[in-house]
Amino acid sequence: MSDDPGGSAVRRDRFSGGPARGFLSSLADDARIFEADLAVDRAHVVMLAEQGIVEPGVAGEILGALDEVESAGHEALPAGEDVHEAIETAVIERVGEEGGRMHTARSRNDEVAACLRWRLREDLLDAAETTVRLREVLAGVAAEHTETVMPGYTHLQPAQPVSLAQHLLAYAQMFMRDHERCADALKRVQVSPLGAGALAGTTFPVEPKFSASQVGFPESFANSMDAVSDRDFAAEALFTAALAAMHLSRLCEEIILWANPGFGFVTLPDAFATGSSIMPQKKNPDAAEIMRGKTGRVYGNLVSLLTTLKGLPLTYNRDLQEDKEPFFDSDRTMRACLSIMAAMLGELEFETEAMREALSEGFLNATELADYLVARGMPFREAHHAAGQAVALAEARDVELDELSLSDLQKIAEEIEDDVFDALDYETAVSRRNAPGGTGPRSVVAQLDAVGAWLAKNGGQNA
Ligand code: ARG
Repeated sequence: MSDDPGGSAVRRDRFSGGPARGFLSSLADDARIFEADLAVDRAHVVMLAEQGIVEPGVAGEILGALDEVESAGHEALPAGEDVHEAIETAVIERVGEEGGRMHTARSRNDEVAACLRWRLREDLLDAAETTVRLREVLAGVAAEHTETVMPGYTHLQPAQPVSLAQHLLAYAQMFMRDHERCADALKRVQVSPLGAGALAGTTFPVEPKFSASQVGFPESFANSMDAVSDRDFAAEALFTAALAAMHLSRLCEEIILWANPGFGFVTLPDAFATGSSIMPQKKNPDAAEIMRGKTGRVYGNLVSLLTTLKGLPLTYNRDLQEDKEPFFDSDRTMRACLSIMAAMLGELEFETEAMREALSEGFLNATELADYLVARGMPFREAHHAAGQAVALAEARDVELDELSLSDLQKIAEEIEDDVFDALDYETAVSRRNAPGGTGPRSVVAQLDAVGAWLAKNGGQNA
């Protein structure tokens, strides 16, 4: 690829020079859509030949030249304002002036929109696949911990005991929704704009549905002006990425908290942590922190595109060239984050003893006492009050609820009997919550079965 983006054979007339050449050119960024442009060119040329718009012999020569351009690679492209122009120049260099027929009945406006959609389809399919991998890892770890109890939090205050499996499976749900969002966004990505021309359609007898099928899209555009200016599909994909980044960031935050000695719930694998240059005792959760930090740029990319779009009159405006960097950046960032998270999760060491011990602080079984009283006929509000009194008493004595004596408890509520101590047991508290979606082991196993069935349907490797 020449360093000089201007002066191409195709547009030598108007873009031969000037101080803005570098500024105008997207050729370097367009490396990511090099493959897409070749696919779009081929689809268009085949359609032109099928429709008798270009002689089959010329079409064949152009297709041969495109193969050569592909083998030479993006780096070998001649100068050009963008990849579309540079590839066209490269084709003309090989075929001669007849190569210029490739651009019959189209414009770079429908062409670039098609390229972006092509690239995005590939990237969304990859992203969807990585969410499958992430669910698989989460389910694998969760399956080992259906009976590992730990504190569940609200307001980051100890609330009720839960299983580690339940906690991890909550994230598995989030990544399933991310997968669904990728699939849903894909529906609106796979609409071909080929045939829309610059903005008004074309006088040539094109067959947009055929062009669409050639690029593997099930649909083609309905309105030429919308086709060349629509970037909703890219904004949706960036939103999908932003939401997935938010899920990853929350999980990172958990890992960071859990790795803090105050929690001590996980030991970080060395490969995902670093030491401090001056404090020998430190093991910092850098991978999780960097990933949490990356969320900002992924949100930023969405806002960047939305802002680029907000003031644009129909139809194509050159501002749209700015759609690429945010999209490429979010794609690159999310690829890295999703795969690092899958790798890190698989290697986290869960400190189940510390989780169990943490239950003894914060009266996480107070709800059990209230439920126990309700089961014995007390109205819930009253039961809640009685359990509160028991907590206050235990707090005053610096003991846990189940360390109060039966007679102390009976002074608070006469309904209480000896079996209360079973009810206050943390494992019992978790194991009793088997209603659908709850943290009980039977419910968690049912959730795991559902995840397993989903993985089998969506290409999980170990499903
Ligand atoms: N590089 C341009 C872009 O990314 C391609 C389309 C140029 N079209 C035009 N009419 N100048 O949007």
